[in-house]
Amino acid sequence: MHEKSGKASFGHIYDRQDPREYFKTLGSMDYRIPDHGQRLFGALVNRRQEAGEGPINVMDLCCSYGINAALLKYDVTLDDLYERYCSEELGTLSTDELAEGDAAYYAGRVREAAPRVTGLDVAENAVSYALKAGLLDAGATEDLENDQPSETLRRAASGTDIFTVSGGIGYISERTFDALLGCVDGGPVPWVAALALRWVSYEGISGVLDGYGLVTEKLEGHTFEQRSFADDAEREYVCRELRDMGVDTQGKEDDGSYHAEFYLSRPAEQVSESSVEELIAPALEGGGQD
Ligand SMILES: C[S@@+](CC[C@H](N)C(=O)[O-])C[C@H]1O[C@@H](n2cnc3c(N)ncnc32)[C@H](O)[C@@H]1O
Repeated sequence: MHEKSGKASFGHIYDRQDPREYFKTLGSMDYRIPDHGQRLFGALVNRRQEAGEGPINVMDLCCSYGINAALLKYDVTLDDLYERYCSEELGTLSTDELAEGDAAYYAGRVREAAPRVTGLDVAENAVSYALKAGLLDAGATEDLENDQPSETLRRAASGTDIFTVSGGIGYISERTFDALLGCVDGGPVPWVAALALRWVSYEGISGVLDGYGLVTEKLEGHTFEQRSFADDAEREYVCRELRDMGVDTQGKEDDGSYHAEFYLSRPAEQVSESSVEELIAPALEGGGQD
């Protein structure tokens, strides 16, 4: 249901005991989307915290092993994580030993203005690892595509300032967003920030968010490389699909990688104060393709 046919499937690495295989497999395909997430989501977190809101609450959807949480809360880069989890030295450790080492590694790298991050994913082992390693402050393994949120998840969602998602749109649809936004009871409506592949329609999600008073802007003029295609067949399939959708693939997917777009949804009064381009400008200095 989730993966379009013709797209390589990575379901087998989403719920291992620890993240080593995830990084090894996706590293070989130059998976970069969490790197873009660090800059884009990080700029939003800084903006909210500078506005005097103190440490804010992020809920990362499809959080996997807590990768976006690691990049937002700790002074590490995606390349540091690849180096760490693909290293020979850590390759021989048991999962418990790795988690213990990770807890110490991250504890020594806490960012000064780290947000609190709750993760949501259906992958129980992945979320459990992220909690053990200290990457997530809280975690939930619920499938809001099919179920209603538990009371605990309701409370966490209602206190969220920003929902983030990278690599997950398509696995989750407007159903998950409807369930989460439906938990917000009278307080300020949280922002929703998403990196979504260019062939995935965001219309259903932005339509649901609109019902909660959120206006969605797409960052114009920039796309973000997600990962290399597994092979020529995947590239040809994706380029054909995109061209059928009227999307120009020249200089982007034609060159061998998936590209994602960035969407931000905020209450209308905040959108009229500053555009997504203005908010994100500091994050674009080192990446994103015109
Ligand atoms: C491509 S991974 C992205 C992981 C991470 N956000 C990143 O950028 O590297 C997709 C994730 O979506 C999760 N997922 C799939 N279906 C889901 C659902 N219904 N609700 C929440 N997470 C889901 C998978 O378990 C997996 O961890």
